[in-house]
Amino acid sequence: MSEIKLPEVELNIYSKSNPVEVKVVENYVVTKESSPNIVRHITFDVSGTDLVDRVRVGQSIGVLPPGVDEKGRAHKLRLYSVSSPTSGEKNQKHLISTTVKRTIDEYQSKIYLGVASNYLSDLKPGDTVKVTGPSGKRFLLPENAKDFNYIFFATGTGIAPFRGMILELFEEQDFQNECALVFGCPYRTDLLYADFLDEMHDRYPNFHYIKSISREGRRKDGTKHYVQTKLVDDKELLAPILAKENTLIYICGMKGMETGIYKELLKQGFPDYLEIRKALPEDLDDIPTGDLKKFVKASARTFEEVY
Ligand code: A2P
Repeated sequence: MSEIKLPEVELNIYSKSNPVEVKVVENYVVTKESSPNIVRHITFDVSGTDLVDRVRVGQSIGVLPPGVDEKGRAHKLRLYSVSSPTSGEKNQKHLISTTVKRTIDEYQSKIYLGVASNYLSDLKPGDTVKVTGPSGKRFLLPENAKDFNYIFFATGTGIAPFRGMILELFEEQDFQNECALVFGCPYRTDLLYADFLDEMHDRYPNFHYIKSISREGRRKDGTKHYVQTKLVDDKELLAPILAKENTLIYICGMKGMETGIYKELLKQGFPDYLEIRKALPEDLDDIPTGDLKKFVKASARTFEEVY
């Protein structure tokens, strides 16, 4: 296995007490058809700031929504993963993108709108935003990225860093190893960046785009299609990639998805992606999936960002 050389990154060039103002240059919906889950691709022009060329794919930027909450306190900083490659959106170092889902909740018949996500979703080109960052120093592609194979697991907006990483690997680095993206969402209408990913799948024989739609039909045993069940249903494709000694796994999205993946990796005999904390029982199903983290954690070959 090649050594995993993670790049040195700069952290918090701009902090909460010292944010920087950047301009929105585009803001568009990234679902193909209309969906009640509205997800947007938003690009900022960071020209003239110290963020130019200093934000890597896999890192996040902070957004400070204007105004105060009902108690008169300034709104909290929210972190958003960067979805542009390290070279910048459309190869322009001064353009940084992110992927934002408009959060809308109902509680006791009242509608609640997520502060930062709705603020960002409403922005128009030319509007300015206060941002901080970058943050994150582990969920990165190695400097020697071409030496590895990748299996990326994403749910929902967890796709953000992978959009940038896939662009970086295939469009900039002439990547020749295997890369699979397993993307999970509730309905087909919630597929994000689907045209781009379908196109990459068609163009590059070593890029595999696997969709996992959870609420349209069930698996044969009655369970839902989740990203981890693709390790079973698409075993023919994924197991040989997992079996290679230079494969890395990246997991991004909903908290809880990682333990489902851990369990399936153990069942299929791929313990190298994990570090054992405590002896495992013979039958893994004796452990409730939620308790699996008492027994195992991500190893150096597994990168995760769950929230
Ligand atoms: P479901 O909600 O049908 O149970 P989004 O962020 O767009 O809501 O998508 C999240 C996706 O992740 C959904 O398809 C959701 O399925 C699925 N999901 C929910 N819980 C888990 C889990 N523990 N492991 C993997 N996927 C999950």
